[in-house]
Amino acid sequence: MRVLGIESSCDETGLALYDTVRGLLAHAVHSQIDLHAAYGGVVPELASRDHVRRIVPLLRMVLAEADAGPGDIDAVAYTAGPGLAGALLVGAGFAEALAFSLNVPALPVHHLEGHLLSPLLSADPPRFPFVALLVSGGHTQLMRVAGVGQYELLGETLDDAAGEAFDKTAKLLGLGYPGGPQLAQLAERGKTGRFDLPRPMLHSGDLDFSFSGLKTAVLTRVRERAIGEAEKADLCADVQAAIVEVLAAKALAALKASGLDQLVVAGGVGANRALRAALDAGARAAGARVFYPELELCTDNGAMIAFAGAQRLTSGKAAKAPGRFGVRPRWNLQEA
Ligand code: KG4
Ligand code: ZN
Repeated sequence: MRVLGIESSCDETGLALYDTVRGLLAHAVHSQIDLHAAYGGVVPELASRDHVRRIVPLLRMVLAEADAGPGDIDAVAYTAGPGLAGALLVGAGFAEALAFSLNVPALPVHHLEGHLLSPLLSADPPRFPFVALLVSGGHTQLMRVAGVGQYELLGETLDDAAGEAFDKTAKLLGLGYPGGPQLAQLAERGKTGRFDLPRPMLHSGDLDFSFSGLKTAVLTRVRERAIGEAEKADLCADVQAAIVEVLAAKALAALKASGLDQLVVAGGVGANRALRAALDAGARAAGARVFYPELELCTDNGAMIAFAGAQRLTSGKAAKAPGRFGVRPRWNLQEA
């Protein structure tokens, strides 16, 4: 069975064709980073309009790469939430119309479920059950994943997401948009230890996070005095070290608390090299293993949506369509 996946929840248009026997046949992503860069953040209306422009050419590209035609599509999975309402509606409207015209099922998919299951697309996938650390631009959550549709929330951020902490501190330092990758790149040239930054909730005894205090701490340092270029790299290194230390400590604590030995890391921040190094070392010492999606599937893409849709379809657990059809800009994964 071949499932077309459509992702349009934020600033990437992603389409993919996944075959339940042969695996991922093709995928293509258009990033709107250049479009929003001038504004320092995502402009929802511009995002929606760009999804409209990109979605058909991307579908043609994916079908050509997979050497397939519309008649080969057996189901259409799309991100129904969470995300920007207008952006979601472009993907949902297109997916529902395409599925209707092809007389195949349309499958609403939870964006985070896509990220969560994306490591299962790699050549050496984890097995259920596992602990998942979800670190995207808007979410920081630890989950116990027992199977498709079986997600137990172990802990989450009480304020900013880790991705937001990267992005907001990067913005304070004038590093551009989205910020996380730029901050990480500059951090590689810096040394840790010059700036004493807090590790929020490191010893809170639970699996929750808080990152807004870190942003405030950086703001204070920046206001105290001018930070030179070399110092900026050191500050980036210290910011990254603070975020990574808390994420790694809590993820390893979640493994220990749940008695599991596989950790899956998903979402854009999962591309961070320092985070990967810390998790790999910590897991090795604890006799556990860490699984990541392929690097190109760390950030938003259609492949993870096609895959999650296919898993839901084959396990008979397709999420209920939100009404006749609609989207859920806010949507808890436990309710999917
Ligand atoms: O999962 P994602 O692509 O989109 C959402 O669903 O939010 O995650 C985007 C987030 C942004 O905050 C971005 O700055 C961050 O992931 N990110 C990184 C890196 N690459 C992407 N943060 C730190 N280091 C990176 N290398
Ligand atoms: Zn995402």
